[in-house]
Parts: sequence; C-alpha cells; structure tokens
Amino acid sequence: MLQVRDLGVAYGHARVIHDLNLSLNPGEMVFIVGRNGAGKTTLLKTIAGLLKPISGTITFKDQSIVSQSPEKLARMGFRFVAQDKKVFSELSVRSNVELAAYGAGEPMDKAWNKVTQLYPKIEEFRDMPAGNLSGGQREILLIGRALVGDPTVLLIDEPTEGLAAIVIQDIFRILNSMRNAVSAIIVEQNLSIVKRLADRIYVMKEGNLICEIADKAQIADSTQLEAYL
Ligand SMILES: Nc1ncnc2c1ncn2[C@@H]1O[C@H](COP(=O)(O)OP(=O)(O)O)[C@@H](O)[C@H]1O
Ligand SMILES: [Mg+2]
Repeated sequence: MLQVRDLGVAYGHARVIHDLNLSLNPGEMVFIVGRNGAGKTTLLKTIAGLLKPISGTITFKDQSIVSQSPEKLARMGFRFVAQDKKVFSELSVRSNVELAAYGAGEPMDKAWNKVTQLYPKIEEFRDMPAGNLSGGQREILLIGRALVGDPTVLLIDEPTEGLAAIVIQDIFRILNSMRNAVSAIIVEQNLSIVKRLADRIYVMKEGNLICEIADKAQIADSTQLEAYL
C-alpha cells in the first residue's frame, strides 16, 4: 500500500537518511526502533510530506506522493502525530477535536465518539483547556484526533516518550485496540510495547534501516531487539 524506495533525506548538506526502503501493508502496525538521532522522526516527517527527500520515491497505492503537500496527504488519509505532543493548549479539549472534525468533514458527534471510545475519562475534561491535560492525556487526545476522518495511514512518533508507567499502559491499550483496524507506522523506543504490538519491526541506525524483523518469535524476543539499541 505504501512503498518507500531508496529514500534519501538531508538537512542542508547533512544527509540523515540513506537509501532507505520500507513498506506498509493494509492493516499492519509496523514499528521503527533505533537510538536518538537515528533519523526516525525525519523519516516520518518525510512520509507525511513535511520534508522533501533529495532522492528516492514514496508511493501510496501505486501513486507517487513525494511532491504532495501535507494538506493533500491529510486529505488522502495520512495522519502524523508528532513527538512533541503539542495540542491547542488554550482551546478546550472538545474544540481540539472539533477542529479535526471540521478539517476532515466528519460530524462532531462521530469524531467525539472516537476519542471517548479510546479513553472515556476524557469526557470529564471536555470543556477544559487542552493545555491542562497531562502528557499522556494529550497524547491520547492527539491519537484520537488522528482517527477523525478514518485515516488510511497513521504515522505516530514516540507515543509513550516521557510518560509515566501507568499512562504508558493506557497508550498500549489504545494502540492495541486499534490493531488490525488501522495501518500504522509507529516510532517507539519502549521495547515492551513494541514486542507486544508489532506486526513487523524496522531497526534504524545512523540513517539506515539495518534490519527488518517479521518473524513472530523474533519480535517477541526483546533481548534480540535490545542488541540493536
Ligand atoms: N531541523 C534539523 N536541522 C538539522 N539537522 C536536524 C534537524 N532535525 C534533525 N536533525 C538531525 O538529523 C538526525 C536525525 O534526527 P531525527 O530524525 O530527529 O532522529 P530520531 O527521531 O531518530 O531521534 C540527527 O543527527 C539530528 O541532529
Ligand atoms: Mg525523533
């Protein structure tokens, strides 16, 4: 469904992604692991249309999407949940969802239902400024927003980064509930999450994909994964 071929990405003269190949099949939850600075965020941003590659191709349903704007890609069903967990802090939680519903042309009731289904407790915070939410609740709001408009490809960057253990379990439960229902590429350094959710894992190092793990037993074996990090 999504194919990345020989991708190269640079910031100015600094090349940070080298000849990278990756694919995503419908209904798959694929994880990308790798140390800080490996190029994981750069890769997701490039797929989301926020960065232009210097070489290679990205195709979605056999159509090139390299030159598409982030807005066009969003209309095609791409959703990027950034690492920074930024919400519209001054707006209410409900308004944050409303903006997504408006953008996607989805009725607000339907959009709000998606968010409350992920995390019923969010009802309590409905009219509060989204900036008052905890880091974990903000991430849940952002994931919920990303589901508005029935996305085709979810790109989620380090959803559990910096979160307390108990909220990490909430995020795990939410991602688990989305398994098989969405197609997603998720960057995640928490290997206990990765090994329980991944259909496939790509390991990134210094701008290269050094390994792909598709075997179930290998995915479940985190000691092997740890060796790459
Ligand atoms: N805006 C930028 N300008 C210049 N270099 C950047 C920029 N963003 C990231 N980099 C560099 O690109 C490399 C990959 O970064 P990044 O994609 O954020 O890695 P990761 O998400 O795996 O931690 C790093 O060496 C980082 O310093
Ligand atoms: Mg990153």
